Amino acid sequence: MIRNLRIADLKPGMFVVDTGEDWTKRPYLYAANRLIRSEDDIRNILEQGYREVFVDFSRSATPSFPDNFPGRKEAGPSRPTVSLEEEVPAARKILAASVDYARKCMTDMRAGSLDAGPAASVVEDIVGSLERNADALLSLGRLRQVDTYTHMHCVNVSVLTAAFALYLQSPAEEVFSAGLAGLFHDLGKALIPLNILNAPRKLTAEEFTAMKQHPVLGYQQLLRLPSLPENVLKGALEHHEKYNGSGYPQGLAGIRISRIGQLVGISDIYDALTSKRPYKNGLTTHKTLGILYQLSGKEFEASLTARFVRMMGIYPVGSIVELEDGWKGVVCASNPEMPAKPTVRLVLDPEGRTATVRDKNLAAGEASAIARCLPDFPGIHPDKVLGLN
Ligand SMILES: [Fe+2]
Repeated sequence: MIRNLRIADLKPGMFVVDTGEDWTKRPYLYAANRLIRSEDDIRNILEQGYREVFVDFSRSATPSFPDNFPGRKEAGPSRPTVSLEEEVPAARKILAASVDYARKCMTDMRAGSLDAGPAASVVEDIVGSLERNADALLSLGRLRQVDTYTHMHCVNVSVLTAAFALYLQSPAEEVFSAGLAGLFHDLGKALIPLNILNAPRKLTAEEFTAMKQHPVLGYQQLLRLPSLPENVLKGALEHHEKYNGSGYPQGLAGIRISRIGQLVGISDIYDALTSKRPYKNGLTTHKTLGILYQLSGKEFEASLTARFVRMMGIYPVGSIVELEDGWKGVVCASNPEMPAKPTVRLVLDPEGRTATVRDKNLAAGEASAIARCLPDFPGIHPDKVLGLN
């Protein structure tokens, strides 16, 4: 007898089974074929962010279906305290100030006089906005301009890494360090020759070797700053290390890579893949999350990658989507409980005519489902649709 249970209702002695469910339909499902041996096993699964599980009671030492186990605190997203529309004006100001500071940091690094003083308030402002409504900064960052890539990338990675640490319910000082490590992770690029840094094409092998020096160059400069937390230094030094040992500069593998190095690394690759550059279009967030999922267990630790994917929500705010009934629109609110069913702001009807804008909650009633995610579509401008420009 196989029954669906909350993780909070799991008990030692139960046998968990993998029912082969699609992870995009049940992103919080822990799927494995294994016996739960201890409370520690259950705690581990909860801490990885899973919410539900299928148990085969015919293979379990606990033969009956439990009704009244006490609940537990589960890892996962916290609810926004303000709406996206309310947070956007503040988030836009925070983003602009953060990009200005990132630009100044790069200039100062070249002059050998980095001033880390303002960084604390920059990161505190970012974390504050994320706590009020993470979709505001995350979607503004996604719809950025091409010409400020390096500075914008530093800020986006700061936003993503801090959001990730918040999602993982890390202590406040770790969330702060995550934001700071993200902001400073690529400062070493300021010491890379500009013709390589700004090359509007893929780098040659020789240029790429030079570029690979940037984590060490940044780390050496950050070491000179007084009282910078140790994990911020590690985040900068280790953000290109890979779980299977194929990264640089040290070729660290597995748990030898610091947790913060892994968080910054995942955020960094996500932002790099989704960014538009002069020589490439950005991938859709949907496609990027699929790539990250394929890299999990290889370049990135599997449970961390899975939690990042869940945090971003499969169809993040700002994604252009086509519904199965032919309507097209923009995701305007994520649904942490059912990530495949966000709220979509409808823009074009099935015949391609501009319609009166209205929001459709795909989790409500008999609403249509998302058929596909589109990189862009004529007549649909996510920043305008969401009032972000
Ligand atoms: Fe980097």
